[in-house]
Amino acid sequence: MPKLNENYQNVKDSYLFAEIARRVKVYEETHPEKAADIIRLGIGDVTLPLTKSVIEALHEAVDSQAVSETFKGYGPEQGYAFAQEAIADYYARNGVEVKATDIFISDGAKSDTGNITELFAKDNVVLVPDPVYPVYVDTNTMDGKNIIYMNGTKENDFLPMPDENVKADIIYLCSPNNPTGACYNKEQLEAWVAYALKNDAVILYDSAYEAFITDPTLPRSIYAIEGAKKCAIEFCSLSKTAGFTGTRFSYTVVPEELVFETSNGGTLSLHNMWNRRQCTKFNGTPYIIQYAGAKVFTEEGMKECQENIGYYRENARMIAETLEKKGISFTGGVNSPYIWFECPKGMESWEFFDYLLENAQVVGTPGAGFGENGKNYFRLTSFGKHEKTKEAMERFNSLF
Ligand SMILES: Cc1ncc(COP(=O)(O)O)c(C=O)c1O
Repeated sequence: MPKLNENYQNVKDSYLFAEIARRVKVYEETHPEKAADIIRLGIGDVTLPLTKSVIEALHEAVDSQAVSETFKGYGPEQGYAFAQEAIADYYARNGVEVKATDIFISDGAKSDTGNITELFAKDNVVLVPDPVYPVYVDTNTMDGKNIIYMNGTKENDFLPMPDENVKADIIYLCSPNNPTGACYNKEQLEAWVAYALKNDAVILYDSAYEAFITDPTLPRSIYAIEGAKKCAIEFCSLSKTAGFTGTRFSYTVVPEELVFETSNGGTLSLHNMWNRRQCTKFNGTPYIIQYAGAKVFTEEGMKECQENIGYYRENARMIAETLEKKGISFTGGVNSPYIWFECPKGMESWEFFDYLLENAQVVGTPGAGFGENGKNYFRLTSFGKHEKTKEAMERFNSLF
């Protein structure tokens, strides 16, 4: 009989989106006349199609696969050099120097943030913010690692800072944050890098939403901070930047400088370990996708993506304006596609979910799904269509 990884028994049922779907279905069945009015602002998925240059590049790449001279089979596990270099150029244009060979191209920040746990032994102390993108918690729970939570609250603007009394080995940071939309500034990230260097810890920095940052003073990469290459891995994705949620392209930067001591007095390089892991378990992101993904990082490609992001930003502005009018304080919405606010009238998040569905036919995401500290909060996303977002906000405005 196989001995199972019983840590899976400790992973909480991911009931958030299933429960949302269930409640919406019940509402539709009991109020069929209102079913068509439902507006979904809960999803974290994009609604705009891929940009012109990406589509053109996809077609080109498909055609090149039809010709034996240009056909490509297996590619490098780390990604094609043309794609790594395109990303390194993009970093450079944003004022950050990253070596192309430190960039590993992959098929999703979800897979990479999950798979990275393999590089770390079980007896690490893992520091995770609450509220949080649930993947960090679930993947470490599957590994049986020891998770400590740091509180993201109204008092710290949902941006937990290092606590010298807590000795962590692995620290997850996500900025701009899902679900709170909060974004660390330079001084705050400097404090985290200083903590990591002092405590020999590693920061796993998820910057999947970096392209949504408009404030030029806010870092778009952890490597904007001096010393970060000695203590941080960065995860990034084209999912929200370029509408690749269904197309799949991400990249993870594991600098060569990341070297830690082993228990037998030697050293191991995280870069070499990740390389070994990818070469063993991953056969690369499809050539066609890398070819199209690389176009995103050109000036023209990014300009098109920023036009789409601008569209979502306008939705975020409408949501923020409505909340302001209502006197509801919130985080996010400016440098982030997410808007996070305290549920009105002291409601808990599931109670507010039902209230909003019943009285405005608007679906959002209850904060309870992201951790204890989210239980009185609610997340709306700016990824919907303008007309729907506008309509949803008009309905919201006429409530309570
Ligand atoms: C913070 C964060 N990281 C990673 C991801 C996953 O991105 P990908 O689509 O590249 O797997 C998401 C997606 O919602 C996210 O919110």
